[in-house]
Amino acid sequence: MSKEIPLATVQKHNKPNDLWLIIDNKVYDVTKFLHEHPGGEETLIDVAGRDGTKAFNDVGHSSEAREILKKFYIGDLAAADIQKKRPVSESTPTDSSPEAVVATKQCCILH
Ligand code: HEM
Repeated sequence: MSKEIPLATVQKHNKPNDLWLIIDNKVYDVTKFLHEHPGGEETLIDVAGRDGTKAFNDVGHSSEAREILKKFYIGDLAAADIQKKRPVSESTPTDSSPEAVVATKQCCILH
């Protein structure tokens, strides 16, 4: 039952009380997890509404963290947006796509 979610939709959910993020082209609604995250709320808010793959991988999260992630899975990033964007891979050096910059600007609560 995987649903395709456009990037534009993900980007709307960029607030602490409505927080989606993308990891490995999958979309997660982690609103309820925000307060429980051992790595703090800010880390998740920083990538709210955008791609957190690199941030997630850089930390070297445990397999337990990946298990937790599954609970918040809501769908797949729309195929068109995967191509339009960039290859979302561990080797992506920086997250500076125009979409990401816009999302960051909108999410300025802690900046
Ligand atoms: C929504 C997806 C995420 C889940 C389910 C998650 C889960 C967890 C869990 C369970 C831990 C405890 C250590 C471990 O088991 O690896 C942890 C630690 C941590 N997380 Fe996340 N995390 C997520 C996203 C992120 C993102 C996007 C960042 C951005 C940098 C981040 C930064 C951290 C940091 C810095 C720690 C280390 C905290 C410490 O040991 O002091 N996490 N996370």
